[in-house]
Amino acid sequence: MKVLVTGANRGLGLALVRSGLKKGNIIFAAVRSVADKHIKELQSLKESYEGQLRIIHMDVTNEKSVKQAAEAVKLTDQYLDVIINNAAILNERDKKIEELDMNAVLQAFDVNTLGPMRVVKHFLPVLRIGLKEQVAEKQAVINISSEAGSLTNAYSGDYPYGMTKTALNMLTEKLRVYLKDEPVDVLSIHPGWMKTDMGGNQAPKEPNETADNIYRLIENGWNSSQFAFVDDNGNHMNI
Ligand SMILES: NC(=O)c1ccc[n+]([C@@H]2O[C@H](COP(=O)([O-])OP(=O)(O)OC[C@H]3O[C@@H](n4cnc5c(N)ncnc54)[C@H](OP(=O)(O)O)[C@@H]3O)[C@@H](O)[C@H]2O)c1
Repeated sequence: MKVLVTGANRGLGLALVRSGLKKGNIIFAAVRSVADKHIKELQSLKESYEGQLRIIHMDVTNEKSVKQAAEAVKLTDQYLDVIINNAAILNERDKKIEELDMNAVLQAFDVNTLGPMRVVKHFLPVLRIGLKEQVAEKQAVINISSEAGSLTNAYSGDYPYGMTKTALNMLTEKLRVYLKDEPVDVLSIHPGWMKTDMGGNQAPKEPNETADNIYRLIENGWNSSQFAFVDDNGNHMNI
């Protein structure tokens, strides 16, 4: 499969790159900064998995950079099978609504919700090339969501993060309906509480385990006729 991973330089994104390469996939690792210090691990993976890894620049808040990344993928590899919208930020943690910096709230929506929208806007045509030419393997759009986006389990705090993930889930559902007659699975996945910069050291889960599970979900196919907001083992989450 040819897989795009956003936010690929650390955390779950990097684990998705590693796991995808091990499985023999071609991976487009999209990173906000291509400066050496940010992509050291990716560069060494590129050497270990010769010919399988492309490192591409993409800031998901910048539509021009998303468009250019899509054009670059088309040029070098013709089409894509899977989009994994992983990049996100968690800001304004534990603040009361009276304390929120609204610019930070806007920034969270820009990265976590509008970012995946921009990516799908420019990369869906690249997925469709594979469909049209009947060369595509599994096709999927995976939005990495969070239990923080659950309406039924809403908690006070993490206002921007929770709201951006609820809105991301709506993007998932709108895309699923839009693509219902095409063989493209569309899922929102809660990856679990993981040991990453975002999740912190106390988290019980390793991102590598989550990444392997996510590939298993993609490979098995979903074929859901309903909204799919699931954990990385495929269990339904509370909407
Ligand atoms: N960790 C958890 O416990 C947990 C729980 C539930 C859901 N999640 C979700 O899982 C996903 C991965 O989280 P994580 O824990 O791996 O987070 P992380 O360690 O904080 O990494 C976030 C990634 O997003 C990238 N990013 C941020 N802003 C960007 C932008 N404007 N354009 C492109 N990339 C950008 C970062 O790049 P830079 O290095 O350039 O900043 C980094 O690669 C997220 O969607 C998150 O919401 C995580």
